[in-house]
Amino acid sequence: MTQPMIAPSILSADFARLADEAAIVAGDGGADWLHVDVMDAHFVPNLTLGLPIVESLLKATDIPLDCHLMIADPGRWAPPYAEAGAHNVTIHAEATDNPSAVARDIRAAGAKAGLAVKPGTDIEDYLEILKDFDTLLVMSVEPGFGGQSFIADVLHKAATVRRLVDSGELTLLVEIDGGISMDTIEQAAAAGVDCFVAGSAVYGAHDPAGAVRALREKAATASPHLHLPH
Ligand code: DX5
Ligand code: ZN
Repeated sequence: MTQPMIAPSILSADFARLADEAAIVAGDGGADWLHVDVMDAHFVPNLTLGLPIVESLLKATDIPLDCHLMIADPGRWAPPYAEAGAHNVTIHAEATDNPSAVARDIRAAGAKAGLAVKPGTDIEDYLEILKDFDTLLVMSVEPGFGGQSFIADVLHKAATVRRLVDSGELTLLVEIDGGISMDTIEQAAAAGVDCFVAGSAVYGAHDPAGAVRALREKAATASPHLHLPH
């Protein structure tokens, strides 16, 4: 049984109440992962949160943490997130000369390893190393801020990797991040995405848990590669 996965991004949550914000999307039919955007004001122009807050959040929720590191020098800074207990630690392809070496360290520290690519980054340059990763995160906005408009031009990257997964050449989850909403999730699902990050569409909604369910249902109707129970 496979269902579309939804990863609410706490970038759009209330940072002073993160435990409560995690709790409202937890439980049956709720978030599969909680997406945590780490930004360092170097790799991206914005600054958010770091390891101490992730460590606290790990104690406050059972939802697996999907840490998206928009940071320079991930070889140095990424493994501690894995050691702390993050489920998934995703680094940016553009931030290091040797993504596979960082993936190895992340996996050795006990987490799944993800590779993120910015909208302008060519996926063809990274197909060879995707075997070293557990997830590919296709950015559908420029990293740095929530609430931006979805860039549909990136969907061919998801479709390319979906084909490689379906043909058995690769084993990894295809994740998309940026501008995912009730209006855009179907096109991403149709391109073969497995996991959908949604910040403003979840935490900007009156009923965040309801928004997670609605997004998953909408993705399910448009996901040709997922075989859904009814
Ligand atoms: C942007 C972040 C996203 C962001 C998505 O740099 O990586 O995870 O929270 O927010 P929405 O869903 O509002 O585009
Ligand atoms: Zn993100």
